[in-house]
Amino acid sequence: MDPAGPRTADALWANARLATFDPAAPGPYGMRDGWAVAVRGDTVAAVLPPDDPAVRAFGGRVTDCGGRLVTPGLIDCHTHLVYGGSRADEWEQRLAGVPYADIARAGGGILSTVRATRDLSEDDLAKAAFPRLRALAAEGVTCVEIKSGYGLTTADELKLLRAARRLGTQDYIPVAVSPTLLAAHAVPPEFAGRADDYVSLIVDEMIPAAARDGLAEAVDVFCEHIAFTPAQCDRIFAAARRHHLAVKGHVEQLSNSRGAELVARHGGWSADHLEYLDASGVAALAAAGTVAVLLPGAFYFLREKQKPPVEALRAAGVPLAVATDANPGTSPFASLRLAMNLACVLYGLTPAEALAGATREAAKALGRADRLGTIAPGKRADLLLWDATHPAEIVCQLGVNPLRVRMAGGVAHDA
Ligand code: NIG
Ligand code: FE
Repeated sequence: MDPAGPRTADALWANARLATFDPAAPGPYGMRDGWAVAVRGDTVAAVLPPDDPAVRAFGGRVTDCGGRLVTPGLIDCHTHLVYGGSRADEWEQRLAGVPYADIARAGGGILSTVRATRDLSEDDLAKAAFPRLRALAAEGVTCVEIKSGYGLTTADELKLLRAARRLGTQDYIPVAVSPTLLAAHAVPPEFAGRADDYVSLIVDEMIPAAARDGLAEAVDVFCEHIAFTPAQCDRIFAAARRHHLAVKGHVEQLSNSRGAELVARHGGWSADHLEYLDASGVAALAAAGTVAVLLPGAFYFLREKQKPPVEALRAAGVPLAVATDANPGTSPFASLRLAMNLACVLYGLTPAEALAGATREAAKALGRADRLGTIAPGKRADLLLWDATHPAEIVCQLGVNPLRVRMAGGVAHDA
């Protein structure tokens, strides 16, 4: 990534347009124009006005940002980055008019990726995911959530979670990984017609194993008429909580199963997709403080018509995050900048909402708001220096990457 190698010394980025996303700073971007950010080790030590004596007195490496934009590292809070195979053939079918649900019912969709994924080792899966991780990181992602969900046996689900962990512990591209167990993604062929028995396997074996080995921070479900019922998801969430794992859900994507209310009732971190969310779902998320994660990539690739109720979510004060949903079927892309762009163009978010949704609000969706998502003292030093002055430029122009320097946990690389 950087021919000169990583730079880890204490650092001061001075003369920057800091879009801090800190609610204590002014405007929707929390802008601190001309300010400096001081980093000690892996942590932001101070955010300083230009005339602060500490700026001149700083002993470490000083970078003059020349008035350029600095933002927090981007956080992709919903991905299925680790999988085998490709589903370009299904995309071709869908373009010819075959619905996603029909392909899934005929054994394609998620189950076709399950077949390709079971064939790969942990090592092969990490290698297959690496180009996707690199693409996200090249545009400034410093923290990524990664779900299992293409194994659907205990051994294969744990294998996916280990591959995800491996992506977060390699040195080449420093990135924080938030791993999620999504065993309730589809009913595996061995359990066809016996979904409740598969749920028992998840509850009795997979969740305890993932919790015991520290392989997952959260448990996710696909609550939908082509996947799991609310009653089944309720059992899974209850087990997650018994094992001190957070809960989140793919809910209200293709129809309204009242999944968001279920997630909210369990105090979930996030409810994701939400195209068919109604007023009582919005109220439930608002009351629980659950983050609404918008995934406009899946909406775009599936050529959906029903949009999530953004105006109602906004009015109710529900935190809005934006993520890629990177997966081989419904959202085959690895660009959080494109996801933000789609959130603006297709769902009507403002660029400030989209950027907050990929930083501050995404950190909340991963239970990491104490360390990630804004530029403030005590936060992890995940900082991006852009060849831009207006934050909307990051969301607006595609195909040109304006990232100059990516700092993750205090380690800076030229982009
Ligand atoms: O987030 N909704 C369910 N899961 C994925 C789709 C995964 C797939 O098609 O492989 C999603 O859209
Ligand atoms: Fe998803």
